[in-house]
Amino acid sequence: MNNDIQKKWEMLHSQSRFRPKYPSEQIVQFVFRNFTRNEKTKVLDLGCGAGRHVYFMANENIDTYGVDISKEGISNAKKTLEYAGLKATLKVAAVDELPFEDNIFDGIVCYGVLYYCKKYEIKKAIEEIYRILKPSGKGILVVRNKKDYRFGDGKEIEKNTFIIQEEDSNNGAFNENGMTMHFFEKDELQSLFSKFKNVFIDEIIETHENGKFCDSNFKVVFEK
Ligand SMILES: C[S@@+](CC[C@H](N)C(=O)[O-])C[C@H]1O[C@@H](n2cnc3c(N)ncnc32)[C@H](O)[C@@H]1O
Repeated sequence: MNNDIQKKWEMLHSQSRFRPKYPSEQIVQFVFRNFTRNEKTKVLDLGCGAGRHVYFMANENIDTYGVDISKEGISNAKKTLEYAGLKATLKVAAVDELPFEDNIFDGIVCYGVLYYCKKYEIKKAIEEIYRILKPSGKGILVVRNKKDYRFGDGKEIEKNTFIIQEEDSNNGAFNENGMTMHFFEKDELQSLFSKFKNVFIDEIIETHENGKFCDSNFKVVFEK
């Protein structure tokens, strides 16, 4: 675990504007399509941050778990749940060392997390996902790709991995300055998920200001 990155996340999570409240449409669709919404369905939100997807799933009666590297993120997620009278199991942990037994989750959601990791952590995190999913358990992963406007910002430390250095404070990437950011390629994801079955890799692209900025992600849906 990189302590500088952890500190940066503690700082971001301490500001309410970095704590999105509403779930991503991608996660809502995936959960509704794939899981029975009751307390027998166990789903982990990997890198849950301030807990918008933890809240969403707990509110749907799912047996919800969340982990994040940031204590501040987990603490905010706990407050949101408490306020709503909902329950979930939340732990501070890194994506590449998960505090769970093998084969216990029906599902995993991981939105906007793994691109902040170095390649060895990403590889280990995906091995961990495989380990803790039940056979036939399903997951969704959303990660940035090379069409994203941030690609190429800052110093490249590994292939397609940069230490973000955005000069313009009006750009969202400015808040990510100093962070590691990996931009995925499709064949890289195919290789990382080669042990899984029914792997579908699609793109989510959203442009802003007449196309000046492009947020571009891969959505990977997979099954153990
Ligand atoms: C952009 S936020 C997304 C949070 C949440 N998934 C959501 O969609 O609201 C990225 C999150 O990843 C967490 N994170 C970054 N690196 C991590 C790691 N190595 N292990 C666990 N969590 C990590 C950060 O603390 C942060 O909460």
